Amino acid sequence: MKKKLVSLLTVSALSLSVLAGCSSSSDSAADVASSAEEAAEEAVEEKTEEVADAVEETAAEVTDAVAGGDLADKKVGVCIYQFSDNFMTLFRNELESYLVAQGFSADNITIVDGANDQATQTNQIQNFITSGVDVLIINPVNSSSAATITDLVVGANIPLVYINREPDADEEQRWEDNNWNVCYVGCDARQSGTYQGEIIVDLGKDVVDLNGDGKIQYIMIEGDPENVDAQYRTEFSVKALEDAGLEVECLDDEVGNWDQATAQQLVANALSAHPETEVVFCNNDAMALGALQSIESAGRTVGTDIYLVGVDALSEALEDVIAGTMTGTVFNDHFSQSHSAADAAINFLNGAGNDHYIGCDYVKVTADNAQEILDSVK
Ligand code: GAL
Repeated sequence: MKKKLVSLLTVSALSLSVLAGCSSSSDSAADVASSAEEAAEEAVEEKTEEVADAVEETAAEVTDAVAGGDLADKKVGVCIYQFSDNFMTLFRNELESYLVAQGFSADNITIVDGANDQATQTNQIQNFITSGVDVLIINPVNSSSAATITDLVVGANIPLVYINREPDADEEQRWEDNNWNVCYVGCDARQSGTYQGEIIVDLGKDVVDLNGDGKIQYIMIEGDPENVDAQYRTEFSVKALEDAGLEVECLDDEVGNWDQATAQQLVANALSAHPETEVVFCNNDAMALGALQSIESAGRTVGTDIYLVGVDALSEALEDVIAGTMTGTVFNDHFSQSHSAADAAINFLNGAGNDHYIGCDYVKVTADNAQEILDSVK
């Protein structure tokens, strides 16, 4: 059987060579030779590509395994100034899930509540240092304590990412001058203030100047006054009105500490003392939601006889903007900020380093785009 097959093959090979010989032109022989060569080249190319792909895939797998393995072993300490803060709750939940998605083990991520007390937070930082964390992400209670915090953390040779509450320019300069592994991730609060003011300006003077006295009467509800976000939002919201040529009159300026219930009380008092109020500026949405409760209890209607703006784009506030019960807000992008903070921590861990300031943009929100923003944050 085997023999038969061999002889059959021999015969066919012979007939093939005869056939090739029959055509007898040297061109055809050359054609056969070159197509054989092409086929061989193609086969080699294909094989080379396959091998290259396989090598690339394996290399990527190895890198992932090494990085994932490394990160899974790394300990991250996260200090939040106060857990009960609405915006920082969105921020910290997103931060945690993004860190896990990047390969950190949930067991190695510890997030602590500073309970709005710097002494408590400084203690927590010391404990993190003692327990040997590999990187710290800190939302300081008092930005003015940043120099002390930086000294502690850098002294322990731990990289540090500040979030949300920006330390002052002198402090950031020290990181630069000493080439320390310290950076800040956050937005420029001046932009959010400007956007708040522009939302009012864009309504038009005739619409906002409800009593027609040529001035915009407003009340301002501030966040924690130690916080640069509160300072800049207060300053730049009003500045945007003035820059647009509007005359302004501040009827009341109170500190609501970012808190809904506090703001509700403050706005109730302010409205009864100043029924001529045309605009209520709140440094954040939690306080704007409190303001709205008081505006409604006072029998006033946003969009008709008063205007109200906040910052953050909390879902509840976005729903109010859609319904017209809030004039507008400003999206404080906790996705982008928390992801950049985690990426910065990873860059420090793998030795890539970071710029000392990592910024993020706010987005102006009115009835025109509130639904779009709400869909994107859900
Ligand atoms: C601001 C935010 C406020 C509050 C504050 C805490 O960026 O708008 O709602 O969370 O941070 O520092």
